[in-house]
Amino acid sequence: MRRITVFRIYLCALFLLSLPIVLAAAAAWQPPSQPKTAVIAHRGASGHAPEHTLSSYRLAARMNADYIEVDVRATKDGKLVALHDATLARTTNVETVYPHRSPWRVSDFSLRELKKLDAGSWFDPRFAGECVPTLDEVVRMLKAERVNVPLYVETKQPGIERAVARLLQKHGVLQRGSVMFQSFHPESLQALRPLIPRGVPLIQLVGEKEARSGRDELLQQIAVYADGIGLPLPAVTEEWVRAAHGRGLMVHVYTVNEPHDLARLCAMGVDGVFTDYPDRPGRIAACRRLPRH
Ligand code: G3P
Ligand code: CA
Repeated sequence: MRRITVFRIYLCALFLLSLPIVLAAAAAWQPPSQPKTAVIAHRGASGHAPEHTLSSYRLAARMNADYIEVDVRATKDGKLVALHDATLARTTNVETVYPHRSPWRVSDFSLRELKKLDAGSWFDPRFAGECVPTLDEVVRMLKAERVNVPLYVETKQPGIERAVARLLQKHGVLQRGSVMFQSFHPESLQALRPLIPRGVPLIQLVGEKEARSGRDELLQQIAVYADGIGLPLPAVTEEWVRAAHGRGLMVHVYTVNEPHDLARLCAMGVDGVFTDYPDRPGRIAACRRLPRH
């Protein structure tokens, strides 16, 4: 009888002693984290500010984007600039400043000439005076403003890979977690591979027509040299996502601005969405808490 009482007292003491540990562990317990659907600010926060301007990138960082997308092209004198189109007519006042230089291809202008252009007013007069930034200026601005958001660089033309890698290396951002690369040009990604450290992902972008012709062959090809695929929104299905994941490929989708699409894609398990409105992913946050099917 006496032995049982001692044993009971011993058990109680043990329980009381371990209680703080149990409570602390319970408080620290986190539900297993859902794979993250990354929010990629498409051309910066291009729904709120003129695409590919320092304002657009700054805003994307303020909106907690997971990545800032930068399309990169080269000028006539080989300077790397942040610009989507091959010509300057849509996003600058080039037709006014250089009326006789149609079709105003970026590659026909030196950086000095480009710096005379206004890349903001077309979007809204509030942004008058914004210029076409160089990739160097983009990285410097983000560093100067202590913005720690990785870049998602798209090489818009083959042949600039070495210059892009050298510039990012110079700034110490050519490393895993600081940059990711994408391109519609497979040869550009293949040229990048030997220039970048292990673990820096390469994403092969595909257009809608390509996405609709022969998914498995395409994924097989891409899996040889890339770490993921960039799919246009209309082409994305659960089968695509499953097939790509089955080959160890990430799936990023462009361009997703409607909340219902954000939620749908997140529920499908896509790994990233390009959006002009990095401030809209409330649905993604909600989706992240949902169990994945
Ligand atoms: O890179 C994803 C998406 O940006 C591709 O299309 O034309 O906007 O560069 P685009
Ligand atoms: Ca792009």
